[in-house]
Amino acid sequence: MVIQSAEFVISSTDYRKAPPPKERELAFIGRSNVGKSSLINSLVNRKGLAKTSTKPGKTQTINHFLINKSWFLVDLPGYGYAGVSRSSRYQWGKMIEAYLLHRENLFFSFVLVDARHEPQRSDLDFINWLGEKQLPMAIVLTKIDKISKVQVGKSMQRFEEKLSERWEELPIIFVTSAEKKQGLEPILDFIGKAIQ
Ligand code: GTP
Ligand code: MG
Repeated sequence: MVIQSAEFVISSTDYRKAPPPKERELAFIGRSNVGKSSLINSLVNRKGLAKTSTKPGKTQTINHFLINKSWFLVDLPGYGYAGVSRSSRYQWGKMIEAYLLHRENLFFSFVLVDARHEPQRSDLDFINWLGEKQLPMAIVLTKIDKISKVQVGKSMQRFEEKLSERWEELPIIFVTSAEKKQGLEPILDFIGKAIQ
């Protein structure tokens, strides 16, 4: 999959205000600061397209990017961020849940998790929730430039073990570094096949 164009379309607080659901779309989701916005920028090779920050809680709305004038990538706010008020967290949770459940042209989600950490309760709960709702997903381990290859392998294994306690069929797991532009090609190929 070659990215020819990537443009920001709109930032919405409600999926019903998102662009008309005419093009198919894929979403990026995961805990705050895991690297969702950075990965989108690296995948489409456009620094600064999605806003990133060293501080968690940067993305607070549903952000649509039109790729190759024919499909959407969606950058979502992170879950599990303790730095905002409980009521905002609740609002974000509701906003993301409604988007995931009701956005009719959404056909795939990438759930990002930090490769350095043990599987976190909030990640497992979220992945299980997607599974229960039968929403197709893949897992993306991020920031692999911060650990060794051996540790990346162990991290994948830990995730597979945790998920197989609950699921017979495991999702695909990608490993990436947005910083060092590693692991992008397999995701782009996957998306290319999926939107055909
Ligand atoms: P929220 O919008 O707050 O939910 O965060 P996010 O998941 O969009 O994370 P964002 O892309 O803003 O990145 C958070 C921080 O992690 C930034 O300081 C990025 O530079 C850093 N970061 C993201 N990806 C990588 C990576 O692959 N490697 C390294 N070393 N740092 C990364
Ligand atoms: Mg973000």
